[in-house]
Amino acid sequence: MTRISRIVGTGAYLPERVLTNHDIAKMVDTSDEWIIERTGIKSRHIAAEHETTSDLAVQAAIHALEAAHMKPDEIDLIVVGTTTPDNTFPSVGTKVQERLDIHRGAAFDVQAACSGFVYGLSVADALIRTGQANNALLIGAEVFSRILDWTDRTTCVLFGDGAGAVVLKGAELKNGLAEPQVMSTHIHSDGRYYDYLYTDGGPSTTATTGHIVMHGQAVFKQAVVKLAEVVDEALAANHLASTDIDWFVPHQANRRIIEGTARRLGLDEHKVVLTIDHHGNTSAASIPLALDEAVRDGRIKTGQLVLMEAMGGGLTWGSGLIRW
Ligand SMILES: CC(C)(COP(=O)(O)OP(=O)(O)OC[C@H]1O[C@@H](n2cnc3c(N)ncnc32)[C@H](O)[C@@H]1OP(=O)(O)O)[C@@H](O)C(=O)NCCC(=O)NCCS
Repeated sequence: MTRISRIVGTGAYLPERVLTNHDIAKMVDTSDEWIIERTGIKSRHIAAEHETTSDLAVQAAIHALEAAHMKPDEIDLIVVGTTTPDNTFPSVGTKVQERLDIHRGAAFDVQAACSGFVYGLSVADALIRTGQANNALLIGAEVFSRILDWTDRTTCVLFGDGAGAVVLKGAELKNGLAEPQVMSTHIHSDGRYYDYLYTDGGPSTTATTGHIVMHGQAVFKQAVVKLAEVVDEALAANHLASTDIDWFVPHQANRRIIEGTARRLGLDEHKVVLTIDHHGNTSAASIPLALDEAVRDGRIKTGQLVLMEAMGGGLTWGSGLIRW
């Protein structure tokens, strides 16, 4: 018997406040046209002053548990992909655990910047496959608005706040690859690109959180190459062709990167789940937010093949292939 993990519920939470490109154009020298043309973003959500990453994460988790018809006390693993925790430590995972009144299992954060969700998927899937956990909450949650320099037009137009979650359940495979399951995950990093996208502060350097600094064109060039590679890797590992993919759910960083990758894959544009226009780049939250939208509006259906990919600071990148 082969033990696998499968996604049995999705959830999302977006803060109430919406910040449009027009709003940002009143703060820095930019325009709605420039932002849409270069990124595809029209608006993003911004957390209220009192809202923290764990507040967003808990709401997304509650919705995912409801969708999975599961109670919090069935969960024995919480993995949170985040780069913007409430506190330097403890983890957002343990805060979520406390808020959901879960007293067992393990909870921790995975910090891989925008690749946090695919990294978290890889970790949670591995822990379930090896029998160390049965039911996992995997959450991507970020309040990037707090680490943006709101006077830097090259970065502040790109990001937003939000949280998405999935519930993963362990199972013994009975009918092979046709059954819903996490089919593969692949994760990579290359620290030579550490300075391409980073915060100019941290606990052991400045004792502050710092703000995002990004070399946009350099990141763009790496993204085009590395995302294509990691998608090819996922397809080859599963003996699949790009035409077998039903839904492509990429990290939502830039519409031009997403469309370029989809074109290279030979994927019909209708198979691409795009939420960047109304979320912006929500880092580790972007894939589960997009997933939840496409599951709830009926696009993603049982039995379909869903391919995710992401790249983020580090640089880190990765993919996840799911039989839904
Ligand atoms: C950031 C990004 C949208 C910038 O687009 P670009 O086409 O590379 O633009 P450039 O950086 O070459 O800047 C072009 C010009 O626009 C200006 N500009 C930058 N931000 C601007 C803004 N918000 N509004 C108006 N003009 C802007 C630049 O100052 C530059 O002006 P100059 O030619 O007078 O020097 C793009 O590089 C990108 O998406 N990179 C990937 C970023 C990413 O995905 N990061 C997250 C990874 S998880």
